Amino acid sequence: MLWKDKYELGVPIIDAQHRELFQRVGDFLKTLRSPVSWEEKVNSVNETLEFMKGYVVEHFHDEEEYQRSISYPGYEAHKEVHDDMVNYVQEVSQEYESSGYNEKLMQQFGGRLLSWLINHVASDDQRIAAYAIEKGVAGGEG
Ligand SMILES: [Fe+2]
Ligand SMILES: [Fe+2]
Repeated sequence: MLWKDKYELGVPIIDAQHRELFQRVGDFLKTLRSPVSWEEKVNSVNETLEFMKGYVVEHFHDEEEYQRSISYPGYEAHKEVHDDMVNYVQEVSQEYESSGYNEKLMQQFGGRLLSWLINHVASDDQRIAAYAIEKGVAGGEG
């Protein structure tokens, strides 16, 4: 399991989404690296990819809403990081589709996705929790 309890922000809905994201990205990598031919796993890879594209957008949206609810001063910068990631995922997806589902492209993407997720959740997202604690608004919305 890639998730670590120290990644928790103390905001139940966000923590649940982060756990789910780690689980899904972990499963995605497991499928990508499983010792069967690309033809045998490409459908499963594509399904997981589609799910994650939707889930990531949903999570970013909810996390941004939480930031606004506590008047987080880093909101604009954080939203830009989210938007850049969404654009990156969309670009890779388009390239992947037009390449006819190139395996190497997806293997590279899987690795990048995981390291992005860990870095972002462990540092950028943690700063939201630090601010909430500092301002005494930790423990949920309102
Ligand atoms: Fe997040
Ligand atoms: Fe975030």
